[in-house]
Amino acid sequence: MPERKRRDGTVCAGADEHYERGAVVPPIYQTANFRFDNTEQAAAVARGESDHLIYTRYGNPTIEAVEQRIAQLEGGQRAFAFAAGQAATSAWCYAHLRPGDRFVVSNRLYGGTAAYMNDCLTPFGVAIDRVDFTDHDAVDRALDGARACWFETPTNPTTQIIDGPAIAALCQKHGVLSAVDNTFATPINQKPFDWGIDWVMHSVTKYLNGHGDLIGGMLVARHGISTDTVASVRKNTGGIMDPHAAFLLHRGLRTLVVRVERHNANALALARHLNQHDKVEHTYYPGLENDPGHAIAKRQMRGFGGIVAIDIKGGFDAAARFIDHLQVIVNAASLGGTESLVSMPVLTSHTRATPEERAMARVTDHTARISVGIEDIDDLIEDVDNALKAV
Ligand SMILES: Cc1ncc(COP(=O)(O)O)c(C=O)c1O
Repeated sequence: MPERKRRDGTVCAGADEHYERGAVVPPIYQTANFRFDNTEQAAAVARGESDHLIYTRYGNPTIEAVEQRIAQLEGGQRAFAFAAGQAATSAWCYAHLRPGDRFVVSNRLYGGTAAYMNDCLTPFGVAIDRVDFTDHDAVDRALDGARACWFETPTNPTTQIIDGPAIAALCQKHGVLSAVDNTFATPINQKPFDWGIDWVMHSVTKYLNGHGDLIGGMLVARHGISTDTVASVRKNTGGIMDPHAAFLLHRGLRTLVVRVERHNANALALARHLNQHDKVEHTYYPGLENDPGHAIAKRQMRGFGGIVAIDIKGGFDAAARFIDHLQVIVNAASLGGTESLVSMPVLTSHTRATPEERAMARVTDHTARISVGIEDIDDLIEDVDNALKAV
């Protein structure tokens, strides 16, 4: 019988796998060590002739269970779980970049990713080449002679859309390794391997877990690419996810499809509402027909995601008054959970960015980023309307 490819809803919610003693969900192997039955077994492991487990930094069944599910959702060959999104990003860079390499990155990245590149890659002699990824001629020129390429779409925090298939084609033309941070979209809304991208990264802290109760990251490799260096970096640097976090992530994933559908619907409704509000200067959301990324988003995404950003008329003080008067939407830094959160990037992800970097990222001192949760949309609309009255 031909192998049946399961659809996303079944991969997330289903229980295809077989775990020890018939467990339907993966047991938590909260153990650092795995026992050898005898010295001959230890010797076979040392010779590379046995895949018997040794030590959780090298691998653990609870972690493998969640890696397999995410690899399947992305349509990839293999996934590697990390203790944070930042640990995944840095392991990927450590695995693929060497002193003297040029690394072409989008000029609109999550502030923490950009800070990591500035603070930790530059001192190792990697040249970071920041390019406007909507300008394909500029990307084409920059990729000539480069080692690797990294971007996110939609971008954090003001949801710029980058044409994934076009950038993947340019990377292939120049033989440059490509990676996409797919945190904002999730594999439910877009699948970068279908565009021809080599690696996908996630901060699973966000939508994939979806309950705001763990920090984690994931790297996923496309089929046909070597994963040896990433495996080696993770093993040697020790950034692997904890088994309990892996269990929670596996549990969160089971509702991913229904959560993302609701995030998409709530965010679109809220963005449409804010877009016509007289206290709002600008609404950023790729699902809006007047958004510059709308046409590309329609081609490459199945839904437009759960993040809406707004510029509030009246500057920093007005934006602060808006946030301080919200009662349902919580003032907190992260995103992607069931509950709606709001933050000002100028006080969180972009605190350390220079004025030029903020301008490049389309972040003003009166931008508010809303991670639209899965509450009742009428309560969210009422909440923003009440808070905007205080502006
Ligand atoms: C788009 C994006 N990538 C990466 C990260 C870093 O992930 P973590 O906080 O899990 O290390 C974040 C965190 O906010 C993010 O928003």
